[in-house]
Amino acid sequence: MDEKPPRRAKPTPIPPVAQSAKEKTLPLRINGKQYFHEGDPDMPLLWYLRDMLRLTGTKFGCGIGACGACTVLVDGKAQRACLTPVKTLVDRDVTTIEGLASAELHPVQQAWIDEDVPQCGYCQAGQIMAAVDLLRRTPKPSDADIGKIANLCRCGTYPRIRKAIARAADLLQEEKK
Ligand code: FES
Ligand code: FES
Repeated sequence: MDEKPPRRAKPTPIPPVAQSAKEKTLPLRINGKQYFHEGDPDMPLLWYLRDMLRLTGTKFGCGIGACGACTVLVDGKAQRACLTPVKTLVDRDVTTIEGLASAELHPVQQAWIDEDVPQCGYCQAGQIMAAVDLLRRTPKPSDADIGKIANLCRCGTYPRIRKAIARAADLLQEEKK
């Protein structure tokens, strides 16, 4: 007796063409260098800087935008890296503490050294980036202007931060002459 040929399995539908890696790539400009991120576009910038690029000067403090330890500059403005998804940074310039100095220290960094600001140091990169942003917007800041910086310092270096910002303002004025 003729045997029936075995029934063929239903062909599996071909999955839709996956988005190419190239299409998912996010071009990111950090400290003047071009990077291409191929992972999760929602990854916070802080994770990208520390875990992918090993730029560990920017610190993790709270992860919820409250402490300022993760402050970086995006197009020159202070921003919390823990709350900034990398997908929002295409065609923008990110500067971290590692990229602040050029041939010489940035005047804010110099003022920080002159006033011997850091204690444990953990919050200081974020404090410096916040100060750079303040002095860009307000070249001669009042005490009240400086008081608006909401970065926290558990060591209580606030008086020295104030002095350093005033000194940095003078240094920046000198540079302009
Ligand atoms: S770690 Fe980003 S604000 Fe605290
Ligand atoms: S210097 Fe220690 S937390 Fe600010």
